[in-house]
Parts: sequence; structure tokens; C-alpha cells
Amino acid sequence: MGLLGKRKDNTAGQVDRSRLPRHIAIIMDGNGRWAKQRGLPRTAGHKVGAETFRRIATCCKNLGVEYLTVYAFSTENWKRPAEEVSAIMGLLKQYMLEAIDTMERDQIRLRFLGNLNAIAPELQELVERTNEISDHIRGFQANVCLNYGGRDEILRAARACAAAGEELTEEHFSAHLYSAGIPDPELIIRPGGEQRISNFLLWQCAYSEFYFCDTLWPDFDERALEKAIIAYQGRDRRYGGVK
Ligand code: FPP
Repeated sequence: MGLLGKRKDNTAGQVDRSRLPRHIAIIMDGNGRWAKQRGLPRTAGHKVGAETFRRIATCCKNLGVEYLTVYAFSTENWKRPAEEVSAIMGLLKQYMLEAIDTMERDQIRLRFLGNLNAIAPELQELVERTNEISDHIRGFQANVCLNYGGRDEILRAARACAAAGEELTEEHFSAHLYSAGIPDPELIIRPGGEQRISNFLLWQCAYSEFYFCDTLWPDFDERALEKAIIAYQGRDRRYGGVK
């Protein structure tokens, strides 16, 4: 790669199932633009975006990925019009209700990461029900970041560590994050054309590989996921060392 050259991943070929990332995280971006291009309200983009999440979660599970984490609603998303916020909450409620009926059959664990005290009590109850079901399921885990902010997560963990009188080590600190017990994502995907982290998994992304593509989230499909994994498999991961 030249000094000013742009990295270009080779995304042709097939996924190597023996070298899968254990954990993939996705910033589901581009729903609003997808809807606008079709003359539809932004909420229509979120509705299709929720379908895309279902499809991609199934695809991850079938491939053998262990964890999928998606950014559904950030601590900053409350600034959006009330109608849009309520449409996203409605889609999350619908998803949780469906999950309560199907996660046991499909062996899918579901966790919600974020400050859940600020979401509607009705949604908090559904989160509790999905947690109870997840507690006795093994296998693939979907994590939905809801009222989530990376800085908020770090501050809370630091305060909790201090309140517990613990020595501030990486191990103690990580145990107070929303993601406690979940391995860091090896691969973070951002569709939708933007190339930024937007307060997502700030602690956990220390050694993640990033993959950006222009596809808008509602159009992101199985092949787009495979391409991201193939690009990841072509990367040279050194963790600060040499090979
Ligand atoms: C970002 O696109 C998307 C969001 C802020 C909301 C994502 C929520 C869902 C897909 C629905 C609920 C999720 C689940 C898991 C059931 P944007 O609106 O910022 O797009 P734009 O950049 O084109 O405006």
C-alpha cells in the first residue's frame, strides 16, 4: 500500500469456516437514506433494517459465529424526532415479543447492552423475560445495544470499580462493562458509507478489524456479510507485535 494509497480488501472467494471471527459487531447505518431514496418515511427504513438484522443474525449463527452485537439505539439517538424514536422502540418491542416465542426453539440467546433504566418499563420487562430464557440456552448470542454509549459504559464501569473498592485492572474494569463475559469483537462492520465509530464499543474495539462498505443497512445481505468476513480473514492481525 502506497503512502497515500487506500486499503483495498480482497473480498472475492469463500469464507474459511475454520478461521471465523467469534464475535462480529455491526453499526446498522443507512436506514434513513434507504427510505429517502424511495420517497418513504425514515421509519420505513428502520422497519426493513430490523428485518435485515433478523436475516444477518441467522446467517451468523449458521456460519458458526458465536456472538453478533448490533447498535440499535445510542445514548444520542434520543435527539431524533419523537415519532422516529417511538418507531424504533416499537420495532424493538416487536422483536422481543417474537424472540420470547422463538429463541428457545432456535437456540438463540439474546442480551441487551446499555442503560436500560431509561427505557419504557414495558420494554424493561421484556428484556427481563428474554434474559430469563437466555439463561438456560447454549449457543449463538445476539447482543442488541439499546440506549448504549461507549463513553457512558466506560464511566459507569470506572465508577462501579471505584465503588467496589477494586484495584483498577483491565480484568476488574471489564467485569463492570455491559459486555462483561462477552469476548471483544474481532470484526466491526459499518455499512452506510460513513467511516467512524460513533461511540460504539470504545473499550472493546481496541484490536478489532474495521470493515466499511457503502451498502445501506436495509440492503446488507448474506453476501455482504461474507465479503466482510473474507476481508477480515485477509488482514494481518499483529496486536502491536511483529510476525
Ligand atoms: C441508523 O441509521 C439506524 C438506527 C439509529 C436505528 C437502528 C434500528 C433498527 C434497525 C430497528 C430496531 C432493531 C432491532 C434489532 C429489532 P440512520 O437512521 O442513522 O440512517 P441514515 O444515516 O441513512 O439517516
